Amino acid sequence: MTGTATGRPVRRRALLTGGALAAGGTLAAAAIAAARSDDADVRPGGAVPVADVGGAVVPFHGARQAGVDTEPQAHASFVALNLAPATDRAALGRLLRLLTDDAARLSQGRPALADTEPELGLLPARLTVTFGFGPGLYRAAGLDERRPASVAALPAFRVDRLQPRWSGGDLLLQICADDPVTVAHAQRVLVKDSRPFATVAWVQQGFRRAAGAEPGRTQRNLFGQLDGTANPRPGGPLETAVWVPDGPAWLRDSSTLVVRRISMNLETWDLLGRADRELAVGRRLDTGAPLTGTAEHDEPDFAAVDAAGLTVIPDFSHLTRARVTDDRLRILRRPYNYDGVPAADGTADSGLIFASYQADVTTQFLPIQRRLAERDLLNEWTTPIGSAVFAVPPGCSDGGWIGQQLLA
Ligand code: HEM
Repeated sequence: MTGTATGRPVRRRALLTGGALAAGGTLAAAAIAAARSDDADVRPGGAVPVADVGGAVVPFHGARQAGVDTEPQAHASFVALNLAPATDRAALGRLLRLLTDDAARLSQGRPALADTEPELGLLPARLTVTFGFGPGLYRAAGLDERRPASVAALPAFRVDRLQPRWSGGDLLLQICADDPVTVAHAQRVLVKDSRPFATVAWVQQGFRRAAGAEPGRTQRNLFGQLDGTANPRPGGPLETAVWVPDGPAWLRDSSTLVVRRISMNLETWDLLGRADRELAVGRRLDTGAPLTGTAEHDEPDFAAVDAAGLTVIPDFSHLTRARVTDDRLRILRRPYNYDGVPAADGTADSGLIFASYQADVTTQFLPIQRRLAERDLLNEWTTPIGSAVFAVPPGCSDGGWIGQQLLA
């Protein structure tokens, strides 16, 4: 296909003239559809035009790290590293200086230093690299007394079937962008530069809807549910729920991250009728509205009962069990879908890379997880198979590096 002066392919014009019409109705219809999608490259609501997705930039430097309250990008790779035995506090400083520099450059559309594929560094597509420190990093640095108490392996839950290959890790790199090639390149650069200091513990790759596919809409998970409706919003509860407001420099403006790999059994979920699926969560599949309402953001009425005297939203629905009313105790969920290779018999390997940010794991995440593990209808179709907890240190200014407040 040849390009034009405007950068648009010529196919559109060709299809709209004689060629397509002569070929008959089907092609003509395709031509109109192509022309429409060509013209509709601006997202409704004035958001980033689809044509600009590749060039869009999220600032890297600041008091807080990007990639936490950043509107989730379409693709993510969660890379957990284990530090080599020789990586002590000084070596960690060198590693984090290096990785910070890579992340700062790539996120602004500049190739990394000595980038072996510099052309791949030119499209940031809202790239963010968010650093997380696991318990082992504090031990390696000899700074365990500075580890936030809640940054530790979670207690075991009876629903857990955790596999070591998806669990733990000393240093996490959460790499997110609206373009999968950008994510792959950033991952390659960061992993390559980590080699002298660390080994790869696990990598989990996930996705949401493509940028511009459904602007402003809550994403859907692979059960088909709208997932993220009740998240705290920026400028409101999110501020107090996610960020540590004060304390020493290595804690102020920090957060914590829980990553849980949760397998979703699509085979048994497929056997459920629509009404039962909606009862399991307490929300409708089409609109995401609570079963007592009509619109996605309607307040659920947990006291409403049906003619038989049963609560309309079941007491053991995911919505009822996960509900938090105190804004300071809420969590920010930033999950990604994963979809592995099906087994030979077609059994799906699908699920959620559940990622939640909160100021404190013990007081915010744990009570919710305990209630869910104890009794949540969704447990019938979901199984946690990986688990890891990280501190999310504060951001840094230009010339600084992530972890400097802790290690320098
Ligand atoms: C595969 C596993 C999971 C699936 C499919 C799932 C799905 C959902 C869905 C569809 C909703 C309703 C819409 C929304 O507000 O986003 C929801 C709400 C929620 N989920 Fe989950 N979830 C899962 C795991 C978890 C876990 C592990 C936690 C935390 C421990 C959690 C915490 C919450 C919270 C806090 C809400 C909002 C409840 C409210 O309305 O206040 N979820 N989830």
